[in-house]
Amino acid sequence: MAVGIFDSGLGGLTVLDAVTKRLPDVPFVYFGDNAHAPYGVRDADDVYNLTTAAVERLWEAGCDLVILACNTASAAALRRMQESWIPPNKRVLGVFVPLIEALTERHWGDNSPPREVAVKHVALFATPATVASRAFQRELAFRAIGVDVEAQACGGVVDAIEDGDMILADALVRSHVDALKRKMPNPDAAILGCTHYPIMETEFQEALGDHVKVFSQANLVAESLADYLVRHPVMVGPGTESMFLTTGDPAKVSRGATQFLRRKVDFVKA
Ligand code: DGL
Repeated sequence: MAVGIFDSGLGGLTVLDAVTKRLPDVPFVYFGDNAHAPYGVRDADDVYNLTTAAVERLWEAGCDLVILACNTASAAALRRMQESWIPPNKRVLGVFVPLIEALTERHWGDNSPPREVAVKHVALFATPATVASRAFQRELAFRAIGVDVEAQACGGVVDAIEDGDMILADALVRSHVDALKRKMPNPDAAILGCTHYPIMETEFQEALGDHVKVFSQANLVAESLADYLVRHPVMVGPGTESMFLTTGDPAKVSRGATQFLRRKVDFVKA
């Protein structure tokens, strides 16, 4: 039994860490498409082709259920995959919905009509591709009314994190928060809509100020996966081994991952 966790690179490790803690008995197979990161500057066809290739590899590794721990892939490719590509015995889930359910104070899977919610001014930080897709606003509109969303495409942050250049990542986060505040001076909540960004959560929070509630995905996705597996226990696939797969250089990716997770991680070639 194994569940697949996919990201373009290292960011999905924030989700992997949370799901491993929440579901310690489930083996997880992580796939980082580091050779092709970042996805956030690619077009939708490109993201679709790369994501489907990665998900096929995770199916081969015994994962019937794959979590796209990547907002860019969830935004640009998931709907197309669900409409025509995923076979009936497999599932692919994204990371947007748990976040929006938390923001709109809903229980998992509550499909009642949209209603007024406590937050009114929401800052969305995400990759250029996620912002361009408007997928977040679409999912939000199904659940909430009267919420003003201002999106900031955070160019460069994923590259800096993938390169381990945290000084650059910090500077970019602060300048993207400044740019957002020029458009929306007083957000009451902020969404970190890229799984790389929790690595910079302290910097986002500092730049935004303590009064802004920052939502980040890892724990929310872990809770919703736990709930999903209770409702669909058969979706824990036949794989038995936890593994870390990468399309990049395994030694370099392992070093980056070990630094982020603060435990030794060994990637192998996908
Ligand atoms: N971590 C990803 C996301 O959540 C991918 C970022 C990228 O590759 O640009 O969007």
